[in-house]
Amino acid sequence: MKLLLGRTIQDNDPVYLTARGAHAALICGKRGSGKSYTLGVVVEELIAQAENQVIPIIVDPMGVYHTMIQANLAQQEALFEWGLSTKGYDIRLLIPGEPDLLYDRDVLAALKDRGVAVVSLQLNPSDLTPDGWCDLFDVDVNKPMGIVLFRAVQRLSHKDENFSIQQIIKAVELDGRAQDTSKEALLNRLEAARGWQIFSEDHYRPLQEQFVPGKVNIVDLSRLEPGPRGRRNLTVSIIARNLFRARADARLREEFNLASPLPRVWMLIDEAHQFVPSGSSTLAKDQLVRWAKEGRQPGLSLVVATQQPSAIDPEVLSQCDIILSHKLTTRADIGALNSLSQDYMGSELRTYIRNLKRTGEAVLVDDELETVAMLRIRPRRSQHGGSTEPPQEENAFDIW
Ligand SMILES: Nc1ncnc2c1ncn2[C@@H]1O[C@H](COP(=O)(O)OP(=O)(O)O)[C@@H](O)[C@H]1O
Ligand SMILES: [Mg+2]
Repeated sequence: MKLLLGRTIQDNDPVYLTARGAHAALICGKRGSGKSYTLGVVVEELIAQAENQVIPIIVDPMGVYHTMIQANLAQQEALFEWGLSTKGYDIRLLIPGEPDLLYDRDVLAALKDRGVAVVSLQLNPSDLTPDGWCDLFDVDVNKPMGIVLFRAVQRLSHKDENFSIQQIIKAVELDGRAQDTSKEALLNRLEAARGWQIFSEDHYRPLQEQFVPGKVNIVDLSRLEPGPRGRRNLTVSIIARNLFRARADARLREEFNLASPLPRVWMLIDEAHQFVPSGSSTLAKDQLVRWAKEGRQPGLSLVVATQQPSAIDPEVLSQCDIILSHKLTTRADIGALNSLSQDYMGSELRTYIRNLKRTGEAVLVDDELETVAMLRIRPRRSQHGGSTEPPQEENAFDIW
């Protein structure tokens, strides 16, 4: 599978991302340098090249990618020069919770008018481990509240069935060994979690069935609160954990040439420092680190996009076998990226970054092929969303 990313600045040669297996990739660059645009290019190429063989999932904290349903008419001429046509894509906009409660009714209607499939993404309480539940409420598994919660969820998990928050509440209430104060505090939190409406109450839907190959699956987190223990992180954590397990099972079947219930997955996370920050934990971090480190075998690709590579967990950074960097200017970020320099690059990464001039220009480092290219990213076939500001020109305090 060869994904056309752009052409070299110098010779106008096509530049591909060769995706033989799964990858861990970093897309970075300062604000307005073209990261989100580029992320969209990768998704367009995945759909063109892999069709139904891959499930592309965009984790969208800003709520901007639904514009991919529309063709990029503004750049029709540029596309023509590249031998490409405009195209709008099938979009599944997965909203954790009740779309009607989270979105303005008119906005929802307008999205549906455009043809966007708006889907309520229902998470299952049983998809979170006993530890995960304690983590969610930030309670210590060795302190009274944590012990009670852990015990309740563990008892329900042991039955190997799916359960609802209501059942956790019941298990806590019936716990004869728990103190009333711990129970009370836990019940408050469990009720609050019910109120989020992102956990399904009755029916269990395997999460992997909510993502469709060949379409742009967008997990829209923009209406949920951020933060290390917020619902954005919770959602990503459950998706990552679930798909890891489901793909590991599918992979095993594939090895025996049995029909696979789940194609390979590419998860592309914009503003990824919210989920895998360096130096602190989040609900999703462990799962994403696992994708970066062990995802290749089950066929799980992870793409993290950020304006601040220095704010991304170093373990994830060091796992990235593809680096696609737009212009960077802050010393810390250039430093973080430069530390990923390899001998085969000829010169340090910072030298390449220094030579990037315009929006949409990038350096691509492919650690598997041991190649480096300076390229212009190709124009998007679908409409790019969310650019509130025009691309930045070289700014005055550029340290070079
Ligand atoms: N390869 C490109 N070709 C043309 N315009 C681009 C390209 N990359 C980015 N842009 C434009 O630059 C602006 C900023 O891009 P964006 O991807 O939103 O930045 P970032 O995510 O890095 O903050 C947008 O208006 C977008 O249309
Ligand atoms: Mg962006």
